[in-house]
Amino acid sequence: SPEVKLAVFGSAGVGKSALVVRFLTKRFIWEYDPTLESTYRHQANIDDETVAMEILDTAGQEDVLQKEGHMRWADGFVLVYDITDRGSFEDVTPLKGFLDEVKRPKHIPLVLLGNKADLEHARQVSTGEGERLAAEMACAFYECSACSDQVGTGGGVAEAFYELCREVRRR
Ligand code: GTP
Ligand code: MG
Repeated sequence: SPEVKLAVFGSAGVGKSALVVRFLTKRFIWEYDPTLESTYRHQANIDDETVAMEILDTAGQEDVLQKEGHMRWADGFVLVYDITDRGSFEDVTPLKGFLDEVKRPKHIPLVLLGNKADLEHARQVSTGEGERLAAEMACAFYECSACSDQVGTGGGVAEAFYELCREVRRR
């Protein structure tokens, strides 16, 4: 079966690890080692095809060399920000710029994910801003919560990962 290598990037604390855990276990983990960096294997049936995924959960505070290595390794990328943290949203564009540099001249399959959509009362980034940034990057956009699949764009966290797999497989 086809195998895809995915990496989850975004600033520290945006919920990358919680999203990966939610995707893999359908559970939410409140306490998670922030410095941990791990890869996970996961199989899913997407559009009647078994897809084997390797998912790299990067650490928000990795250095440039680590980042570059991880970018070279992966085929597809989940770029995550926290809808309650404008700084994390502003970090996405430079991250995408670095990704472009590393992957040039290749097309980069990616999805943009605004996490922590359960914290509507603390929102600092509107859905429209997320949509506009995704349009600029020509990628799919999701608002999700690692706490619950009942919040956000619909389809939950899994749909973002599945769409990324489709995007990788189209190339
Ligand atoms: P680094 O690995 O340090 O870069 O952080 P990270 O992006 O992996 O964030 P992590 O998953 O460790 O989550 C950071 C904090 O946000 C933790 O306290 C999580 O419980 C919390 N968190 C993650 N996702 C959500 C979410 O969707 N909603 C809420 N309310 N809290 C979340
Ligand atoms: Mg983490």
